[in-house]
Amino acid sequence: MTAPISMRFTAPGPLAGRIAVPGDKSISHRAVMLSSLAVGESRIEGLLEGEDVLATANAMRALGATIERGRNGVWTIHGVGVGGLLQPEQALDMGNSGTSTRLLMGLVASHPVTATFIGDASLSRRPMARVSEPLERMGAGIAASPGGRLPLMVTGACPAVPISYRLPVASAQVKSAVLLAGLNTPGLTRVIEPVATRDHSERMLAGFGAEVTIGMEDGARVITVRGEAELRPQHIIVPGDPSSAAFPLVAALLVPGSAVTVENVGINPTRAGLLTVLRDMGADLTLSNQREVGGEPVADITARHSILKAIEVPPELAPSMIDEFPILFVAAALASGRTVARGLEELRVKESDRIAVMAAGLRACGAEVEELVDGLAITGTGGEPLRGTNAAVASHLDHRIAMSFAVAGLAARGAVTIDDFRPVATSFPGFTGLMTGLGAQAS
Ligand code: S3P
Repeated sequence: MTAPISMRFTAPGPLAGRIAVPGDKSISHRAVMLSSLAVGESRIEGLLEGEDVLATANAMRALGATIERGRNGVWTIHGVGVGGLLQPEQALDMGNSGTSTRLLMGLVASHPVTATFIGDASLSRRPMARVSEPLERMGAGIAASPGGRLPLMVTGACPAVPISYRLPVASAQVKSAVLLAGLNTPGLTRVIEPVATRDHSERMLAGFGAEVTIGMEDGARVITVRGEAELRPQHIIVPGDPSSAAFPLVAALLVPGSAVTVENVGINPTRAGLLTVLRDMGADLTLSNQREVGGEPVADITARHSILKAIEVPPELAPSMIDEFPILFVAAALASGRTVARGLEELRVKESDRIAVMAAGLRACGAEVEELVDGLAITGTGGEPLRGTNAAVASHLDHRIAMSFAVAGLAARGAVTIDDFRPVATSFPGFTGLMTGLGAQAS
């Protein structure tokens, strides 16, 4: 590991311009995994080349796929076929990536291989029992570190047993792990989700030719996949990541005089909760050029400086904006009134405890914050810059914490310094360059 790299952000004036953000992280992981299981050559355009997705690509190589990046930035993957994963020779290093870990545990669980998963300090603190539990029911053997954490070893069951699994937590990662395990399991594997989560796995599995059905039972969404599937190689175009677009868009809302357009952003309804909440707060957001790219809805989104008003964030929107709470909290710190967001226990087990870490960082920036068991209450400035001058905050190996406080720096009276900006490379390579291109100052 290299030494921490601190970064200081401020905005001397308005932000302006048109940018595109890197490819969607969730879709990129799934594109690499499913291409690696198709027989033949798949091509992926717009793949996110962040550390998390590169960890997935390295793991799929270790499991037998041939994966190359062309000079034009298009990735080519020759898959091994469902059932064809090979025994990896070394531990699979997942770095900081929970999505890589949980989805790959699912894939390994129904193949005749044994794989050890390791990761960085942040990932090694995160709960994995939520995935181990259903995979063990399917027949996989899992030996985890105390607390069900990494490092852990998965021994696949072959044949695995199909299950019908009701999600105890609203988690797209758990849903996807079970569905991916179901791909090489005879019969029908079902996941019941009482609260809908991002549906990229279902969409892409169907796109690759797997038999996937989606229905409703007693108000819950039921996803069924038929196992021993044969996946056909695809040409995938990955849309821009709405979770990355959120940072420049909120920055434009907060810095007086700004107008920023982010092109080609995914607006899948299972991901678009932040746009709804910001609009309810009075944000000037315009969607244009709405179209479909690679089976996903996309649009160009323009944000203009707005005076925001506080709201109570509807808890039912949480799954559709689960990664956007850190940046929403920054927006709330400049709104007029008290914003309350609850029902967010899951934020405590992300790359960091995002409730505690955001509360501490926002206070350092001069904001008025109350930490709740399951969320935050933030009393905003009513549009005035954050009072802190030269605040110092810690990113805790969490990319979205680092970028949220970069935006806070643009909206503060003085600059904000983030102690370690390296984690941003997991999801948003080029963040600093894009932001300075819009008028931010970073040093
Ligand atoms: C993801 C699902 C979410 C999200 C994560 C990516 C995915 O996690 O926070 O960044 O790609 O499936 P959970 O499923 O744990 O909520």
